[in-house]
Amino acid sequence: MQNPQNSTSENFKVGFISATDTMDLRMRILRPLHPREACEYAEDNLPATFHLGVTDSEGKVISNGTFMQQGHSHFPNVKLPYRLRGMATDPAFQGQGLGRKIILAAEEELKKRGCDLLWFNARVSAEVFYSKLGYTAIPEIFDIHPIGPHKVMFKSFKSV
Ligand SMILES: CC(C)(COP(=O)(O)OP(=O)(O)OC[C@H]1O[C@@H](n2cnc3c(N)ncnc32)[C@H](O)[C@@H]1OP(=O)(O)O)[C@@H](O)C(=O)NCCC(=O)NCCS
Repeated sequence: MQNPQNSTSENFKVGFISATDTMDLRMRILRPLHPREACEYAEDNLPATFHLGVTDSEGKVISNGTFMQQGHSHFPNVKLPYRLRGMATDPAFQGQGLGRKIILAAEEELKKRGCDLLWFNARVSAEVFYSKLGYTAIPEIFDIHPIGPHKVMFKSFKSV
């Protein structure tokens, strides 16, 4: 993984960003009705957490995701689980492969760290995005108020 300033992938740059740099998309795209505090995660600045962003030519973050070390009761035998949160692409750039870049870069980083499973609560509206990247959905749908219906989705990187 390179720094955003040094890595070029097609017309965009992908790399590590700070928790602070994720706040704009989290607030604008994911939780527009919530105060800033509701968009912060307790794990944001833990050493094991990392944030990936795609930046435009001016360094503005236009797609990002946060990856934190966290398990889920559905996957009891996983040694080093990670959870994705805050996945969002600026609406002006959606459908151009930026979200895919984030997930693929994250998978590369997670495998380097020895992570054996990535999971997340996926909005049902985004399920196809993740399934196209090889993620499996647990069929049960649950509501996260006030956002709406979600499914747990996951991908194993080793046999677990
Ligand atoms: C979901 C989201 C992160 C996808 O980011 P993106 O940068 O637009 O995704 P990409 O352009 O990399 O899409 C990759 C593929 O998934 C498809 N895709 C992306 N979002 C999709 C969606 N919501 N429904 C169906 N397909 C979708 C794309 O069409 C593309 O398909 P292709 O490979 O056949 O061309 C983005 O649409 C977004 O921020 N949505 C609003 C917030 C949200 O729902 N976040 C997820 C929370 S769990």
